[in-house]
Amino acid sequence: MTCHPRRLPFSPVLALVLLVTPGGAASALDDGLARTPPMGWNSWNALRLDINEDLVKEVVDVLAEEGLRDAGYEYLVIDDGWQFARDDEGNIVVDPKKFPSGIKALADYVHSRGLKFGLYSDAGAKTCGGFPGSLGHEYQDARTYAAWGVDYLKYDWCHSGNQSAPDSYALMRDALKEAGRPIVLSICEWGTSKPWLWARDVGHLWRTTFDIRPCWDCGQQAHSKGVLIENFIGFTKILDQQVDLESYAGPGHWNDPDMLEVGNGELTHEENRAHFSLWCILAAPLMLGNDIRDMAPEVHAILTNAEVIAVNQDPLGRQGRKVRDDGDLEVWSKELADGSRAVVLFNRSESEADIAFSWPEIGLPEYLSLRVRDLWQQEDKGTFDGSYSAPVPSHGVVMLAVR
Ligand code: GLA
Repeated sequence: MTCHPRRLPFSPVLALVLLVTPGGAASALDDGLARTPPMGWNSWNALRLDINEDLVKEVVDVLAEEGLRDAGYEYLVIDDGWQFARDDEGNIVVDPKKFPSGIKALADYVHSRGLKFGLYSDAGAKTCGGFPGSLGHEYQDARTYAAWGVDYLKYDWCHSGNQSAPDSYALMRDALKEAGRPIVLSICEWGTSKPWLWARDVGHLWRTTFDIRPCWDCGQQAHSKGVLIENFIGFTKILDQQVDLESYAGPGHWNDPDMLEVGNGELTHEENRAHFSLWCILAAPLMLGNDIRDMAPEVHAILTNAEVIAVNQDPLGRQGRKVRDDGDLEVWSKELADGSRAVVLFNRSESEADIAFSWPEIGLPEYLSLRVRDLWQQEDKGTFDGSYSAPVPSHGVVMLAVR
C-alpha cells in the first residue's frame, strides 16, 4: 500500500513562518555562495603576521600540486598583516615590503592556479595586529577588494569599542553587495554577541568562540569588559561550545568553530584525527591552519581523506550533534543527504575504551540491518542489527558511515 502525505492548504502565514524560521530554506543572503562549508587555507594559525608574497605563492603551489585543491581546499586566505596604512584618499595601502607586487597580482596568481582568493580586515578602526581596519572605509574597501579579485573576506572584531556587531557586519555585507563581486563574508566576532541568532542574513559563516590553539584542552584566561573569559582554547573546549548551535547551520550559513590546527603544536596523531573528524561532523568550515609547505605525510593523509571530507561537504548541510555523552566517551551523529548517518565515536579518556551506540540514538529504526563502514580504515565492517560497538583509542576517534 502506498501512503500519500496529507496535502495542507496553502497558507501565506505558514509560508512566512517557514521563511524566517532558523533551519528553514531561505535567507536574505541566499546568494549561492558557501552552499557547503568553505574549505581552504588561512595564514594565521601557522604563520601569524610573518607573511609575504613569495611564501604565499609557495603555499598556493602546494595547494594546487599536492592534492589539496583537488580534495576541496579552494580558498587561499591571507589573514592579518598585509596592510600598511591609508593614503591621502583613504585607500588601503598594502605593505610594500611583504607584498611588493601588490595584492591584485597575488590574487591573479591564485586564480591562475584554479583557486579562489581571500583577505582579512576588521570592523573596527584597527585590526587585532594593529593595522588599519575598515571602520569608516567599508564601501571604499569593498570596492578595492572587488577590483583586486577578492572572493572571501574574513572580517574581525578588534578595536570595535561600542559598535553594534549586527550593524557593523551588515554594513560590510551591503558594501560588498554594492561592489558587485560575489564575496563570501566570514564573520569573526568570536561568538560574543551570539551571531548564530542574527548573522544568517549577514554573513556566510560566523565564529562561535575565541581563538583556537593547537592543544587538547588548554585555555588562557583573560578579562573582557569586566567578565572573565578564556581568550584562547584547545579544540575539545571549542567542541563543547558547539552543542546546541546545530539548528543555526545550513547551506549558505555556517557556525565556525575556528580554523584547523591539524598538524600544529602539541597535537598527537590521534588528536589530529579526532580534531579533523569532529570538525567534519560539525559541518565546520575547513580552513587549513598548518604550514602545508612542510607537512608530515600522516598529516597530509588526514587532511585529504575523501570519505571524511565528504561528510563535511554533504549537500544536506546538517551540522552533526552529540547524541550520547558518557563523561569521557561520546557519540556524535550527522544526517547525510542519502538518509545515512556519519558517526564519530570520541574517547577523551587516557586509555582505549569500547564505545557503543544503537540505531535509535542516531535517528534510525532499531529493526534495520545496517552496513557500517570505517572511514579512517576505509574498510566495510559488515552488516549489523540494532547497534554497533568499536574500541576507540585514547584521545582518538572511530569515524563511521552507517547505511
Ligand atoms: C583575531 C582572530 C584570529 C586572527 C587574528 C589576527 O584574534 O580571531 O583568527 O584573525 O585576530 O590578528
